[in-house]
Amino acid sequence: MQHHQPVPEDKQAQLLEALKAKFETSGQDINAYLEGLLYADYLSYWDYIHLDTLLSLQNQETTFPDEMIFITYHQITELYFKMILSEMEQIGKQTDVSEADFTMRMSRINRYFEMLVQSFDIMGEGMEAAQFRKFRLSLTPASGFQSVQFRMIEIRATEFINLVDKEVRHELHADQPMRELYEHIYWKRGATELSTGKKTLTLQKFEEKYEHTLIAFAEEARHTNLWTAYERLQTHTTPGEKLIQAMRHFDTLVNIDWALAHFKSAMRYLHQEPESVAATGGTNWQQYLPPFFQKRIFYPELWSDTEKQNWGKSWVEKHVLTQKNKPGKK
Ligand code: HEM
Repeated sequence: MQHHQPVPEDKQAQLLEALKAKFETSGQDINAYLEGLLYADYLSYWDYIHLDTLLSLQNQETTFPDEMIFITYHQITELYFKMILSEMEQIGKQTDVSEADFTMRMSRINRYFEMLVQSFDIMGEGMEAAQFRKFRLSLTPASGFQSVQFRMIEIRATEFINLVDKEVRHELHADQPMRELYEHIYWKRGATELSTGKKTLTLQKFEEKYEHTLIAFAEEARHTNLWTAYERLQTHTTPGEKLIQAMRHFDTLVNIDWALAHFKSAMRYLHQEPESVAATGGTNWQQYLPPFFQKRIFYPELWSDTEKQNWGKSWVEKHVLTQKNKPGKK
C-alpha cells in the first residue's frame, strides 16, 4: 500500500464537498460511508487477485505430476487470450480509431502472442513424454480445439470469409448470412470425417455449447473485426509502415509461429513409429495442423503472392524437417 502525504485542509474540504455531491445525487448519506471507512479492512494483494481461488483451479484428472504443467499452461494461455480479446475489442469497437491507438494496441497484442510462442516449449519440451502419453488418455475427448477464446480471436482478427474452408471459399460471398458462412468454417471440416460426413465428438460437444454464441459474435464482428477497423482508417488516411508491419506480424504469430510451435509439440508426443497415435480430439492432425497445408491468412491484402504461396514453408523446413526434429523423435 502506498503512504500518502497529508492532504492540505483546503484539498480535504474540496474532497469532502465532491463526495457529498456524489452521494447526494443518489440520495445517500455521506456520513454512513465515512463511518464505514473506519471499520473497513485494508485491501490485500491476495484478495485483490483472488489468489486462493486462482491456485485452486488446477484440478488434475490423474496423479501424474506433469499433468499440472499441462493444465496450468492452458490456463495461462487462456488468460493471455483474454487480454488479446480485450485489445481487439477496443480497436474494433471504436468508429474512428486513430492510427496511433490502433498501432499501440496491435503492439500489445503482438507482445502477448510473442509470449505464447516463446513459451510453447513448456509444452513441447517441458513434460515427460511417457507421463503425457498416459494422462492424455484420461482427457479424451477434450482438446484445445475447443478453446472458444482462440476461435473468438480468429473471428475478431479478420473478415469471416478468410476463415472459411479454402476449398469452398470461391463459391461463397463475404456478405452471405453468417449462418451459411459459418457452416463452412475451416475447423468444422478439420474435425469431420470426409467420407462419412460424421463430426468428431469433440466438435459435436463444442457446437452444442458454443455454436449459437459464436454465430452471434461473428455477426457483430462483421463490423468490428480488425480488418474493418483498418479499412475505416484507410478512408481518411494512408496507414503507415508501422501499423502494416504490426498487422503482418500478428498474422504470422498466430497463423505460422504459434501454429507451428503447437504442431511441433503434437509431433513430439503423438508421432510414434510406425504410426502416429490418435489425437484426443480425433482430427487427422498431421494434415490439419500445419499452416503450410491450411494457409490460414488474416490479411491476404498485406502479403505478396509469393509470400502467400510460401506461407509457413520455411518454418517447416527449418524446425520440423531437420534431423533433430525428424518425426519419431521421443
Ligand atoms: C503437448 C501439448 C499439446 C498437444 C499434443 C496438442 C495437440 C493438439 C491436436 C492433435 C489438435 C488437433 C485437434 C485434435 O484432434 O485434438 C490440437 C488442436 C488445438 N489445440 Fe492443441 N495441443 C497441445 C497444447 C495446446 C495448448 C497449450 C493450447 C492452448 C490453448 C492448445 C490449443 C489448441 C487449439 C486452439 C487447437 C485448434 C487448432 C486449429 O483448429 O487449427 N493446444 N491440439
